[in-house]
Amino acid sequence: MNNKIDFPTQLRAQCCCPNCRANVSEGFSLEQLFCNRCKSEFFTMENIPCLFPAGTHQRLIWQHQTAMLISLAEQALSNIRESLARYDLSDATRERLAEIYKANLINRDSIQSLLTKKSVPPEFNETLNQMNAGDLSEYFDLIFRDWGWDTTSEPSEENKNALKRITSLIDTLPNSPKRVLVLGAGAGRLSWDIHTYLDPDFSLAVDSNPLLLAVADELIKKKNSLTFGEFKLFPQIDFPTTATRNIPSPQVSTHQSSNWFLLAANVWNLPLQNQSFDLIITPWFIDVNGGDVRDLIGLIQNLLTPEGSWLNTGPLLYTRHLPTQLKYSQAEIKEFFSLSGLTFTSERTDQAPYLVSPMEARIRTEQIWSFVATQTVDTQPVAGVIANWLVMHHLPIPVANYRSFQSHPLIDAIIQMIDGKKSINTISTILDPQMPEGVAVKEVVVAILGQLVLDTRAAEEEIARP
Ligand SMILES: C[S@@+](CC[C@H](N)C(=O)[O-])C[C@H]1O[C@@H](n2cnc3c(N)ncnc32)[C@H](O)[C@@H]1O
Repeated sequence: MNNKIDFPTQLRAQCCCPNCRANVSEGFSLEQLFCNRCKSEFFTMENIPCLFPAGTHQRLIWQHQTAMLISLAEQALSNIRESLARYDLSDATRERLAEIYKANLINRDSIQSLLTKKSVPPEFNETLNQMNAGDLSEYFDLIFRDWGWDTTSEPSEENKNALKRITSLIDTLPNSPKRVLVLGAGAGRLSWDIHTYLDPDFSLAVDSNPLLLAVADELIKKKNSLTFGEFKLFPQIDFPTTATRNIPSPQVSTHQSSNWFLLAANVWNLPLQNQSFDLIITPWFIDVNGGDVRDLIGLIQNLLTPEGSWLNTGPLLYTRHLPTQLKYSQAEIKEFFSLSGLTFTSERTDQAPYLVSPMEARIRTEQIWSFVATQTVDTQPVAGVIANWLVMHHLPIPVANYRSFQSHPLIDAIIQMIDGKKSINTISTILDPQMPEGVAVKEVVVAILGQLVLDTRAAEEEIARP
């Protein structure tokens, strides 16, 4: 099968199956969008590979989400049409409604034609409708912030300052990174600006939102312009309620756009092999990825080359649904670094305006924590932690003479798996298929191993007692 994926050879070689992690020599084929080992089938949005564990089913999910978005827009249009037909409106109210109607119409048409062009046409799915498939418009304003509010006549400071914060840290790196990975790249602006600043061999911008990926692809790779309607829910004095944003393709050099790539993937099942990148950037991502920061640290440590760096920027504005236990403070995250052998080489905290539209009287400011961390061999002890690998689930569990005061086949099975290489994550993955449905395997493994460490220590103390 011939697809339009334009990844260079080096990047192709770093891809793997998001399901079974087979690499190119083990059966994964980016050309065929197929894994010959686990028989998973994938798809593209034009030239963007879409490599999710759900395979081609992911496209159905997106198509359903597109249909839901279009249907919401149509509902809003129908409501406004009904209102406009009333007899009790003044011209001013009619004008306001007509403007909102126009902005909605532009968005419905732009989104529908963009996603249809990218092979994600709207298609309602009854089964998916029973579940909450998620909202594609969640980060819609990022499109405006990245590309729409930053015009020659009205330049926005927000993108410029975001880049400045990053470059102040990049400039502290000992070597210029050649293989750059951006996780949660959104509508692509920051990853693009960093790419043009660094001029690496390649940059790979990953996101799971097809609308944002489609926008970034059109503007940067296809060099097409886009139009969206912006409208505010609340009127603000002396500010317009709506605007038509004609977004031109940025002035991009062909050299630089030809080695900046998009990948549609879920960060928790990345189709990328370990030790593939020498700079990983997480812009406004560590708090909104649906997972545990500790697991993100593990994932990044695995993907980085030994001398590679992790550059983070963004707040700790964790999503509402995340359990309180996982809403870690900066101090806790620093402890995770000490436990994992990561060192901060530079760091800064800024207070900056966020998502400031020229149509917005209200200004939201956020606290932004930016840092560069590199890998060291040394880990540091942290108060209250009985073993670093118990907290950081990607670290290998050391071999020891583990003893348990309880007897259970699962405890024995876990002890037998400890070989100095496997981590809590690896053991949990091995045990997962054997566990009853609904059991949080990792929780069980952590509980058993935690008790095992305490029992082993107690037994050793008992032996040492005179
Ligand atoms: C707050 S936005 C930040 C976007 C961009 N980095 C920026 O600074 O504008 C978070 C982004 O992460 C993406 N995202 C969240 N969870 C993800 C996951 N598990 N895998 C891939 N992308 C994810 C979202 O789609 C969204 O584009």
